[in-house]
Amino acid sequence: MPTAYIETFGCQMNERDSEIMAQLLAAEHEVAGSLEAADVVVVNTCTIREKAEQKAFSLLGRLRRIKERRPEVVVVVAGCVAQQQGGAIRSRMPYVDVVVGPQEIYRLPELVDQARRRQRRVATELRPDFAIPTLLPDLRRGHPHKRFVTIMQGCNNFCTYCVVPYTRGREISRPPADVLAEVRHLAGGGVREITLLGQNVNSYGQDREDACSFAALIRMLAEVPGIRRIRFTTSHPKDLSDELVACFAEVPELCPHIHLPVQSGSDRVLARMNRKYTAARYLERVAALRQAVPDIVITTDVIVGFPGETEEDFAATMRLLDEVRFHGAFSFKYSDRPNAPASRFADKVAEEEKTRRLAVLQKRQEEIALARLREYVGQQVEVMVEGEGRGPGQASGRTAGNQIVNFTPDRSGLRPGEFVSVRIEEACPHSLRGKEVSPS
Ligand code: SAH
Ligand code: SF4
Ligand code: F3S
Repeated sequence: MPTAYIETFGCQMNERDSEIMAQLLAAEHEVAGSLEAADVVVVNTCTIREKAEQKAFSLLGRLRRIKERRPEVVVVVAGCVAQQQGGAIRSRMPYVDVVVGPQEIYRLPELVDQARRRQRRVATELRPDFAIPTLLPDLRRGHPHKRFVTIMQGCNNFCTYCVVPYTRGREISRPPADVLAEVRHLAGGGVREITLLGQNVNSYGQDREDACSFAALIRMLAEVPGIRRIRFTTSHPKDLSDELVACFAEVPELCPHIHLPVQSGSDRVLARMNRKYTAARYLERVAALRQAVPDIVITTDVIVGFPGETEEDFAATMRLLDEVRFHGAFSFKYSDRPNAPASRFADKVAEEEKTRRLAVLQKRQEEIALARLREYVGQQVEVMVEGEGRGPGQASGRTAGNQIVNFTPDRSGLRPGEFVSVRIEEACPHSLRGKEVSPS
């Protein structure tokens, strides 16, 4: 059988799409041991920032040389760069055989077949009435105990810096029955933890009459036997509903962790980003979450150096970080994206200034994150075992709050997927360390 290799860049959506592509190709391909040896190479790309796109292009450069030596190799560009650039990719890189957008991945086997017959294909249609097919995941591949479940695609928010609405199209939800069938299938195969994926999960179901709210979907999935942990990403602060906040207090399976991207602490910048909330509203939502679950883990995304961001705006972001004390934050320098309206804003911040602000922010956030981890020392937490830990004889896993824990087991034969109690003894920069406490 021919072999296939998939390289994935970008977000969890892309990771899940790569799993789907792998499963579709598996009917007629084995998994290749390396990119160099593969007969089909799929590069699943991301274009969220310029750097993300460059990574994909540099890999494609390597593929050009491989293709010179082995012209029969089929090169596929998938994902958000594929969607955004379409046929232009083939003019720039004529050795690319197939360009396939996120909605068209289900046609991959057929497109690869056509490429073998020297028909090069560009499949980048984005239809607002697209129905996301359900392909029950292959339980023999992928993580045995935790999985991603895509509940919707696309985004209707049009934040002015962001390409996603242009690469993933409008919001389309999967029917609740399809999501339920997929989750039951996973749980029946031993999966204990699911992460529900969408660019803006809060608006799940709003595009279809047969759907329920996102909160109702969580409550329904929590009833599936075997599912012990439910996570989701990403939630937009502007429509984080009280109904969803209540789920954190009332649904034991919903993990006490929320990724709630704030982007900026300045109302002026937030308005120019088209985020549709103020810093005060964001803080009010954080307060509501903490009232529901006092020790909820809140993580965020921040952009520094958005066009027109002044020293004062940046100081407002720093104040917000100190006020919320996020358990973690991903922070980025603003990056111009073609199509995104902010790329046409005039008052760009100089590169060196963006670099400086990012360093200041990251240093402060690291201190906060470590202080947050120290709060766990002395506490007993539930960990889902994922594998071996750092040291000899150690195991590792994650808390419900999504923190990594390396710990000394109390007994031998601890298996991934098991839930154990661990007493935390030490906080490291990005993880916790502890000892299993035997159930008595
Ligand atoms: N749908 C999610 C996030 C998608 S992208 C949401 O709305 O929160 C992930 C993160 O990348 C964003 O939260 C933002 O912080 C960052 N990002 C997106 N576009 C960017 C750009 N042009 N420059 C820098 N960072 C960007
Ligand atoms: Fe991009 Fe905004 Fe949509 Fe998130 S909500 S994907 S940042 S447009
Ligand atoms: Fe990147 Fe597309 Fe995800 S641009 S972040 S892969 S939606």
